[in-house]
Amino acid sequence: MEHGPQLSRPLTQHHPYVPGKQPEISDGTVKLNTNENPYPPSPQIKNAILDELESLRLYPNSSSNDLRAGIAKLHRLKASQVIVGNGSDDLLNLCTRCFSDEKLKVGMLEPSYSLYEVVASLQGSSLIRIPFDDDAFSITPKSIVDSGANLFFITSPHAPSGREYSMDCFRQILSEFQGLVVIDEAYADFAGQNALSLLDDYPNLIITRTMSKSYSLAGLRVGYALSSPEIISILDQAREVYNVDRLAQAAALASLNDRNYFEETLALIVKERRKFAMVLDEWGWKSCPSGANFIFTRPIDFKGESGPEVASDLYDYLSSRNVLTRYFPQHELTSSYVRISIGNSRDMDILLERIIEWKTQEQP
Ligand SMILES: Cc1ncc(COP(=O)(O)O)c(C=O)c1O
Repeated sequence: MEHGPQLSRPLTQHHPYVPGKQPEISDGTVKLNTNENPYPPSPQIKNAILDELESLRLYPNSSSNDLRAGIAKLHRLKASQVIVGNGSDDLLNLCTRCFSDEKLKVGMLEPSYSLYEVVASLQGSSLIRIPFDDDAFSITPKSIVDSGANLFFITSPHAPSGREYSMDCFRQILSEFQGLVVIDEAYADFAGQNALSLLDDYPNLIITRTMSKSYSLAGLRVGYALSSPEIISILDQAREVYNVDRLAQAAALASLNDRNYFEETLALIVKERRKFAMVLDEWGWKSCPSGANFIFTRPIDFKGESGPEVASDLYDYLSSRNVLTRYFPQHELTSSYVRISIGNSRDMDILLERIIEWKTQEQP
């Protein structure tokens, strides 16, 4: 544009986030591409939402106080250690807004959740990409400690591989790194371990969680971050005043309090994950042991071959038969794999049928 308003400098070089496909779900599509939960949210949210309807003329509680208190109780923390956001993406964005700029750099492991790059670029800060050590997505703490970043994002369990990292690894990073570490635990409820116990010892730790996956509330947009009261109060200064609406606050709290439903649906997903992993093992498909609600696997075709072309072919084959998965061709650690979200048993049966057709090249 020669005349008229100018774009802000960060926007001139910005590449927005590209979400996975979101088709209408009534068309019979088996949707295993964006790690949503196959079960409905807790039935308790219905009344919580209905009770809130008359109050919609009023602004919501700006700090989501009741929900903060509920989250604090669940994790045995103080409410001052919790902040709630419009999805955890909102909190990842807040972290870069508060702790990065043209001089304060953002770090991430490559490949990881690509939103980190997007929120860093919106803030106009440069991004330091640290490669993984090997194709099992191993991390060397020193590479993060020496990265020079002021804010470092680590996804654990990692996406797209599903790999979990040990608390020892995090301790080494947190005790030596000069900046802030965000451990994005979007998938931690499906994992065997999490970093909550590190909060007491490391004030430079922020843990982000989402209610989109394990609570089946992706459409409601609620996430939260846990950290020291000092960091939380900084994040609080920069967030939108009413960042979580009334319906979201009420429904998220009702859902959080329905522990039985949460545990039951979680167990079903973990069971399906185990069954699917066993089938992939029997086929000899290499998969990362997953602590998440998805499996990252390297397909082998009917000729016994694997690689980027094979993975891309399976992805296309499944898509054309209304089974959506995710394929990441951009990176050599991901291009021979597909990432498949864990669905309910019906979804997984259809998925397996389609994969077997592909493996044997029979057409339906
Ligand atoms: C690693 C990771 N972090 C955060 C998110 C975003 O979650 P939310 O729906 O809470 O914004 C996702 C969503 O897929 C994710 O994969």
